[in-house]
Amino acid sequence: MAHPNNDIIPTLDGLAYGGDYNPEQWDRAVWDEDVRLMREAGVNIVSVNIFAWAGVNPGPGVWDFERLDAVMDLLAANGIKADLATSTASPPPWFSQAHPETLPVNAEGVRLAYGARAEYCPHAPAFQDAVVEMASRLAERYAAHPALAMWHVGNEYYRSCFCDLAADAFRAWLQERHGGLDGLNDAWGTTFWSQTFTDWSQVLPPRLCAETPSPGLVLDWQRFGSDALLKLFRSEADAIAERSPDKPITTNLMVTGNFSHLDYHRWGEHVTGPNRLVATDHYLIPEHDDDIEAPAQVAFGADASRGLAGGSPWLLMEQSANSSAWRKGYFAKRPGDQIRHSLSYVARGSEGVMFFQWRASRYGAERYHSAMLPHGGTEAKSWREVKEFGARLGRIAEVKGSTVVARAAVLLDFESAWAANTPGQPSAHMTTYPELRRWHAALWRKGVTTDLVNPAWDLSGYEYVLAPHLYVLESDANLRAYVEGGGTLVVGPYSGIVDRNDHVHPGLPGALRDLIGVRIEEFAPLAEGEAIGLDDGSEGRTWSEAAQPIDAEVVASFTEYPSTGALFRRELGRGEVWYTATRPADLEAFLTKVGVEPDFPGAAPNLELVRRRHEDGRSYLFAINHGTEPAEVPAEGDDLLTGRPWAAKGILDPGETAVIRERS
Ligand code: GAL
Repeated sequence: MAHPNNDIIPTLDGLAYGGDYNPEQWDRAVWDEDVRLMREAGVNIVSVNIFAWAGVNPGPGVWDFERLDAVMDLLAANGIKADLATSTASPPPWFSQAHPETLPVNAEGVRLAYGARAEYCPHAPAFQDAVVEMASRLAERYAAHPALAMWHVGNEYYRSCFCDLAADAFRAWLQERHGGLDGLNDAWGTTFWSQTFTDWSQVLPPRLCAETPSPGLVLDWQRFGSDALLKLFRSEADAIAERSPDKPITTNLMVTGNFSHLDYHRWGEHVTGPNRLVATDHYLIPEHDDDIEAPAQVAFGADASRGLAGGSPWLLMEQSANSSAWRKGYFAKRPGDQIRHSLSYVARGSEGVMFFQWRASRYGAERYHSAMLPHGGTEAKSWREVKEFGARLGRIAEVKGSTVVARAAVLLDFESAWAANTPGQPSAHMTTYPELRRWHAALWRKGVTTDLVNPAWDLSGYEYVLAPHLYVLESDANLRAYVEGGGTLVVGPYSGIVDRNDHVHPGLPGALRDLIGVRIEEFAPLAEGEAIGLDDGSEGRTWSEAAQPIDAEVVASFTEYPSTGALFRRELGRGEVWYTATRPADLEAFLTKVGVEPDFPGAAPNLELVRRRHEDGRSYLFAINHGTEPAEVPAEGDDLLTGRPWAAKGILDPGETAVIRERS
């Protein structure tokens, strides 16, 4: 569960602006230039010590804080705050050599060599102890440091390990989840292919085997992996909280969809509430996103982060100023994109904008990764835009603590996403994140601001709830309550199919059948590029189902199966539920058909409009014109970016942005 918190970095004046700062890569003389340029760009916080374990703890029992002291003091002297990291995401070679069992083993059983970062087994006691000692020592030393604004534990938790220590920990976790071996055998359906366990020692991680592994095993392994990393995060966070109780603690998550290793909802309560905050990294990856335009990708990442925070403000911890080192050939941001994207994150609830990284590295694996201060220095476009955006952010500081107004929610269930990716699925193309991204992008194009939320949460505040792909579902109770209470629920195909153990519900779609009033006879996945026609003139792609109404109106049917419904509607209580038995080819038209209205009817296409509001009613309309035509912005007040009054129907030029403090 998410806990509310509208003041996520209390000691920071204004919105956060900065990035990962790695002074250990530079001579001392460069540091002075760094802080001078940081001030010039409006940087007020940097993440330090992210990968600097080897500096602070250069050998067994050896501790050296001289450099970190100097960095923290320099920041404090220049009025720049520190997001102080624990450096535990990257053990140095001496540590791995001294504790070889802490090096990760992959699914093929190969123990990996040290030589890069994140080279650890989350289940190795020596590593677990080391990270707690590191966090404790740092917290003791820096809790009262004037530069300290917040704590940053680890970095992008994702590592898994298939070693014997992992196998032991997995068995213990399974015993807690399933009780005895009978429970485990039932949950994984081990009678299939005669894989019944008769002793716990037979249970293994999903190491490479000859054929398709058990989906139940794969799913539990993911749950276990997420829980193990959460335990690791909590061990450090607890050690810090004990010694530095008044400063927020976070880690840079990837709820934006770049990594899907964690069940973020299980992490939620540990990264929300007093002295906790949701911080996420977001890198745009075009091949993950079909034809989704960059601003809609930005919105997805932001809306997922805000969703995890339960609507509270959150923080964009990393984005790239331009291209990413790991994405060869991709992609120079177009002039102005960095500014527009950055403002969109803030519009969507981020309490600032941070980058990886401050200054481009001269060496190392990421020497060609873009940075706020690129190799080209202060002459480069990225720098000019960094400086320009820093100035803009300074002018809108009063939005800090306000929250985003969203009328619609998209349901995101991380377990469902894992389960839909387990082996042996009927289609390789009905997977959760891409499906959610498509629907979300259609909502973005329609001008609907959307929270991406947990299906188990209270949904009653939303006008529309969309469930593009809710593959795992145990019960329809929460969705039913929402609909009966007056909501409009729109459900996508291949939803409600399995239970938490990935067992197919009898009578498809088991968990949703009564609610949607539709039964599915069979799945009919489509080939790539194949389309299926509907008698309302629309088309479906990728997936279809032979579906029949039980207690629902058939709004459209497939032309190839005249007796079979394709789009259904059912009124229930004070609300209604829609079900589509295919993926609509034109999702925007589909949304119109089911009655979803834009937040600002009549607004120009590619004009992004999002409202943030303070509890006392002060409200701000963020307007970002991603299009090529001037666009009318429906607000009256003052544009904080230019200081000029904004008359009703004021025009925003192409590529421009405005943040209008609205006259109530
Ligand atoms: C992030 C990571 C950073 C840096 C960045 C490059 O995922 O946290 O340390 O590697 O990617 O894009």
